[in-house]
Amino acid sequence: MDMRFANRFNGKVALLTGSAAANPDELMGFGGATVWRFFEEGGRGVVITDIQDEIGERSAQQLRDSGHDAIYMHLDVTEEEEWTNVVAATMKHFGRLDILVNIAGILDPKSILDIEPAVWKKTMEISTVGVFLGTRAVARAMDQSGGGAIINLASMAAKQGSGSYGSAYSYSRGGMLNFSMSAALQLSGMGIRVNTIMPGWIHTPFTDYLYTDPEQSKFRTDRVPLGRWGKPEDIAGGILFIASDDASYITGAELLMDGGVSAGSVRPPNPKGDE
Ligand SMILES: NC(=O)c1ccc[n+]([C@@H]2O[C@H](COP(=O)([O-])OP(=O)(O)OC[C@H]3O[C@@H](n4cnc5c(N)ncnc54)[C@H](O)[C@@H]3O)[C@@H](O)[C@H]2O)c1
Repeated sequence: MDMRFANRFNGKVALLTGSAAANPDELMGFGGATVWRFFEEGGRGVVITDIQDEIGERSAQQLRDSGHDAIYMHLDVTEEEEWTNVVAATMKHFGRLDILVNIAGILDPKSILDIEPAVWKKTMEISTVGVFLGTRAVARAMDQSGGGAIINLASMAAKQGSGSYGSAYSYSRGGMLNFSMSAALQLSGMGIRVNTIMPGWIHTPFTDYLYTDPEQSKFRTDRVPLGRWGKPEDIAGGILFIASDDASYITGAELLMDGGVSAGSVRPPNPKGDE
């Protein structure tokens, strides 16, 4: 690893939602790629949380087997009481909390006309209400720890409409950008920075069904100027940059990490260009 980064997170404690997939022998999510690198860079401890308890417990055990102080806790981000319990347990175990990464999310898989309203509402709730509850739950603990960083994982879809499905996904991710700005303003006095990351197409458990479908996969690869799907490690690099003191003057901001997709369309060479 680059030794400049070796101690960036010395003594720091991070809490991550939707982060059960953190076993390096399997396909990892954003949370998984983030926690392993966080420890490489000196991190003191992590609290992995999710609603997939078996997978999360196994991931935390694997981190502990590698000598890292990691605990897993059940956290449905839409449940306020569960947030209260998780933050209290974090403070009891580690005595501090420096970083919150809001990763939990689902996708509404049908069009506006066909989607079941309950699924649409749940999609909205997880990335809007969930982030609101999380922000409230951690703020005082971070204040007691001398400040902190909250990183909200939205999507490049936050600034676009979704074609055949995913209207609640795009809508709620756009809302996440706006909420992050309010939180950045309201928590600045506590030394808490709040920022959003907008990933493009990244191969994780969330997108595995698309990545492994040759037609779906090629459709996306063809639209990425950098010519490939992203890896969870690509996004972990951004999460940890924003979480670190390297980003000490960044708050209320958005970081787009989509391989260039949002910059415009990739087109074949102009046939007249060779003349
Ligand atoms: N992978 C991509 O291409 C991509 C791109 C842009 C944004 N995102 C977003 O990033 C986030 C991370 O996903 P990932 O790619 O690491 O995949 P992932 O599937 O590993 O992570 C998402 C996790 O959210 C959890 N979850 C679902 N509902 C929950 C709830 N109510 N409470 C708590 N946890 C819940 C799931 O169990 C899952 O483990 C998601 O919100 C996704 O929408 C992903």
